[in-house]
Amino acid sequence: MTDKLSFLLDGVEIPFHKGQTIMQAATAAGAYIPHLCFHPDLAPHGSCRLCIVDINGKTVSSCTQPAEDRQEVHSNIPELQQARLRLIQLLFAEGNHFCPSCEVSGNCQLQALAYDLGMTHYHYAPFSAVRAQDASHPELFIDRDRCILCDLCGRASCSSDNKNVYGLSGRGEQTHLIFRSQSGNLADTAASVHDHAAHICPVGCILPKQGNYMQTIGSRLYDNAPIHKVGNHRM
Ligand code: FES
Repeated sequence: MTDKLSFLLDGVEIPFHKGQTIMQAATAAGAYIPHLCFHPDLAPHGSCRLCIVDINGKTVSSCTQPAEDRQEVHSNIPELQQARLRLIQLLFAEGNHFCPSCEVSGNCQLQALAYDLGMTHYHYAPFSAVRAQDASHPELFIDRDRCILCDLCGRASCSSDNKNVYGLSGRGEQTHLIFRSQSGNLADTAASVHDHAAHICPVGCILPKQGNYMQTIGSRLYDNAPIHKVGNHRM
């Protein structure tokens, strides 16, 4: 008898300790569950739903679901991969993700997941959003058209940078990225290009103004292996 706690993820035993979520335990064990709004050092947000898993026929988000001993968890099954593909296609339709001209191309988790899930077309009519950009900051440019509302920057700004620069405001389709300054401009916050929050964006919304397009094709994060093998190292 052992008192070690573990569950099965697609048949692979994953150890965990009490209080860990399925995603936290899987990540710590080196197993990949697709995700966009999860970061191992930050509180879960549970908003992107890419991390859905099946437990006894019930679909739950693994980044918020506590792990339980001897649970059988299924992630890499056709129904869930298809649901994830539709979520990715919705995000592509909702934002302006023109990968060939985006400087994050090759390092973008959204793009990498689209490749991994076999996305070949939009599926949904593009929303063609036009949202206010922010170029006020000397070191950072913000392209709100690419924001996927994951709030990773907001959570990193609070808990890693102790600054509370970034946040989300509005409801439903009006939800948008804000900067906590009186003017609403990023330049009037304490944001710095050296912040954790400035480098945690999983897409191409928060961009440094200097040093762009430095990586050649072939040397970018997802050039040589799919995201389910590489994982998320853009942290
Ligand atoms: Fe779980 Fe986004 S990673 S909902």
